[in-house]
Amino acid sequence: MPGQMAMTDLDHFIIGLPKAELHLHIEGSLEPELMFALARRNGVALPYPDVEALRAAYAFSNLQDFLDIYYAGAAVLRTSADFHDLALAYFDRAAADGVVHAEIMFDPQTHTARGIAFATVIEGLLSAMAAAQARHGMTSCLIMSFLRHLTEDDAFATLAEAQPWLDRITAVGLDSSELGHPPEKFARVFAAARGAGLKCVAHAGEEGPPAYVSGALDALRVDRIDHGNRALEDSALVERLAASGMVLTVCPLSNLRLCVISAMDRHPIDRMLAAGLRATVNSDDPAYFGGYIADNYRAVAAARGLSRADLAQIARNSLTGSFLPADRIAELGARLDAFVLRHG
Ligand code: ADE
Ligand code: ZN
Repeated sequence: MPGQMAMTDLDHFIIGLPKAELHLHIEGSLEPELMFALARRNGVALPYPDVEALRAAYAFSNLQDFLDIYYAGAAVLRTSADFHDLALAYFDRAAADGVVHAEIMFDPQTHTARGIAFATVIEGLLSAMAAAQARHGMTSCLIMSFLRHLTEDDAFATLAEAQPWLDRITAVGLDSSELGHPPEKFARVFAAARGAGLKCVAHAGEEGPPAYVSGALDALRVDRIDHGNRALEDSALVERLAASGMVLTVCPLSNLRLCVISAMDRHPIDRMLAAGLRATVNSDDPAYFGGYIADNYRAVAAARGLSRADLAQIARNSLTGSFLPADRIAELGARLDAFVLRHG
């Protein structure tokens, strides 16, 4: 929300909706100001003179353009305190947008490849999650994402490193460069993760073809699809996703910034809902894409004329599509229903 503009009734409605964020890369919530502060704290040199120059570099033509800058930025994260500060800044910001539960992805390989211990990363994140619960009553959980441009053996090594923390990790995910790295490449490591009791999600159909979405369903047996936009090119696949109640974690501002869509008024969110898909709205990498979750709701509401009932449905999908236990989903669903009764 641009600070200088007055909040409209619709803004209040969007922010007040109890909602879950299901697609958020914690490294993608690293705001330029914090990046510079951590660079100073850790004596890391950044290739930009200041925050303005860094922000000016956030002009992406595709996913890879973004990933190159995103991985470079993560180099300032070195200590558990850094990961704690990063995650707590995100939780504070998300709480202000009405997020009551957040399922955050982290990319351990981005850090272990630089010599940062797995324990350093996860201990900082877990302490921030406890602080968010104490400060905001916000629940959260961790999705450990494998980088798909690396090998499946690398992913197996990461799963082995995660062993002591598996009871504090809810799911595995699959992210990074999609094209040329189909889901089938990771079938065995996902089977192992599922065998260890973890849920499974994967980015699919962001840049990759519909076959990558079916591949995520068949080879990875995912519980959710991250993005899924290109599934719309295959009507049989859309029917399959709708019939199975598969949740899609859609990220409108990300789609715009990474040129998955040419303009927000071309966003397919309403087509997804009309096709019976369980779409949710999320921020992906908010520090890089120009907005947090409420900005994403607001952007599609304005561009696609979504009604309050549509927005409430999206928030409801985020609660029922979360990995929370049934009693917490029921409690949050009741809060959502009460809010909609008063304000819908
Ligand atoms: N890593 C961080 N954001 C991502 C995205 N939108 N797609 C794939 N990998 C990512
Ligand atoms: Zn993502």
